[in-house]
Parts: sequence; structure tokens; C-alpha cells
Amino acid sequence: MCDVGSARWHEPVLVAEVLGFLAPAPGKLIVDATVGTGGHTEALLSHGARVIAVDQDSQSLELAQERLKAFGDGVRFLHGNFCDLPALLGPLSLSQVDGVLFDLGASSLQFDRPERGFSFQADGLLDMRMDPEGPVSAHDLVNRLPEAELARILWEYGEERHSQRIARAIVRVRPIHTTGELARVVARAVGDKPRRYRIHPATRTFQALRIAVNDELAALETGLSAALAHLSPGGVLCAISFHSLEDRIVKRFLRRAALAGRVEVLTKKPVGPRDEEVARNPRARSAKLRAGRVREVAPGLATCP
Ligand SMILES: C[S@@+](CC[C@H](N)C(=O)[O-])C[C@H]1O[C@@H](n2cnc3c(N)ncnc32)[C@H](O)[C@@H]1O
Repeated sequence: MCDVGSARWHEPVLVAEVLGFLAPAPGKLIVDATVGTGGHTEALLSHGARVIAVDQDSQSLELAQERLKAFGDGVRFLHGNFCDLPALLGPLSLSQVDGVLFDLGASSLQFDRPERGFSFQADGLLDMRMDPEGPVSAHDLVNRLPEAELARILWEYGEERHSQRIARAIVRVRPIHTTGELARVVARAVGDKPRRYRIHPATRTFQALRIAVNDELAALETGLSAALAHLSPGGVLCAISFHSLEDRIVKRFLRRAALAGRVEVLTKKPVGPRDEEVARNPRARSAKLRAGRVREVAPGLATCP
């Protein structure tokens, strides 16, 4: 996090690497599909590109707008989910853009504000909606889902091997209202093996609920396809993920697009942060960047007689 006046901004990760792939320059138009508090967008604008900045979190958008006002109409802000990219970009009469960036997951702003209910580090009402107007909160899921459905979510989205035990414990004690209460229930449920965890025992449960609340994996699949459809030949798609479920979706998407001849994969392996970056910003530790460039001419067409 960066302190700027009274605002607390998310510290962007892999900025040099993103700039390397997206190559922002005057005349280029780039979509930042997850503007957050505007760190990556600021770097893109500073290199002369114009940016369309999207986020489903109106609070983050307001902060980004305030931060980036010096760039005037070089940046356009759109509130919405990146899975609706065609509907968001439609009214701008844009057919194609030169780059799209996805910096996935939640921001420090969301994690660090107790009232957003994302984190057990800061006790707050369970919520986890990236779009504060979203239809379902973590409170709804934790207190209403049947035990088997809760266990499935923890297993599929958190890869939590104690999913059934945790789901049983939740159902036994609910209602659960705050992030702190939930963290304690989870820690008690796996209480006989706490030392095996390198991370807090509730980390996977919180990840799983957040993914379910925001339908993150389905949104990513749709968002990647929409991004590819809007990229011009030579345009670059860049995605930063923070856990294996997201990274697998990005990897497979790029591989399928490459097999179909649409994209050249620019990252044989995902690009991670350098040691200095992790030392400065520990949240960058798990970041993985993958990128692909839309082919100028579909293979085969160039050799047609
Ligand atoms: C890791 S933060 C991005 C930080 C940003 N790059 C910066 O420099 O501040 C992820 C952001 O993506 C937003 N987000 C996540 N999924 C989204 C989706 N499906 N549609 C729109 N925004 C989304 C979140 O609300 C959050 O603000």
C-alpha cells in the first residue's frame, strides 16, 4: 500500500514487466480491466497511452479518478464487471484496442478496509463483494448454504483439504456475522493440526468464499474472451494472477488461442516478481503474469495463392 495524503492506494505489482509487454506509447489505446486505485493505469498514461479504466468497485474507481485527474481525457473510467466488456465498450464506438490488462483478485484497499469484510486481519462484517452493490455477500453464503455446498466451495475454490470438517463446523455454530468469528471457527475446526499451516488456517476458506461471492472464475473466462475479441492485430493481452485456479484459466485460454492461430504466447512460463519487488511489497510474492499477442495475419492466410 502507498500512503498518499489521506488516501491509501494499492501498490501495483510487476509494473515494469506490464509496461514491457503492453509497450504503452502515444497513439495507443489500452483497457485496464481492473483499474483498482490506478497504479498500472498511471504508469500506462505516463508513457503516453490513452486508457479505458474499468472496475466493478465504485470506491476504487473514485480514488483512481481523483489520483489520475491530471491526465484529463487521456483516461476514461467505466464502472462494471469486465465480463461485460462488450457492453461497456459498445457506447464508446470502439472496435479495437492495442492492449488489455487484467490484474486479478482483490486490492489492498478492499482487504484493508474492515467494513468491506474481506479479511480476518481486520475484523468486520462478512461481505467480500468487490462490487458493493453485488447481489450476494459472504454473509449470505456462510449463513444460508447447505453444508455440502459450502464444503464444495471450500474444496473447489480454496483447494481446502479440510473442507468438510470446516463446513460442518460453520453449520453447527451459525449464524456467523464477522470475519473474525469465521476465522476462529475455521481455526478451531482444524485445531488439531494448526502447526502444519504456513499460512493462517482460514486463508483458503476466505479465498474460496471471495471467489464464490464474486463469481471470479466464470468472470475471468468470459472477460478473457471479450478482451481477445477487442484486441487489434498486434495487440497484447496481459493477465496477472495470484493463485493457481486463476493462473490455470489464463494459461489454458492462451494455449487454446495459440492453437487456434489467434495468439502468439509471449510467456512460455509465467513471469514472477524479482526479489527486490517481493522485499518491498510482499503481496507481489504470488503474482504470475502471462501475456499473448494477437497475430497480425492468421497462419495459413498469408500463404494463400
Ligand atoms: C489487484 S486489484 C488491481 C489493482 C490495480 N492494478 C492498481 O494498480 O491499483 C484488482 C481490482 O480488480 C477489480 N476486479 C476484480 N474482478 C473484477 C471484474 N470481474 N470486473 C471488474 N473489476 C474487477 C477489483 O475490484 C479490484 O479493484
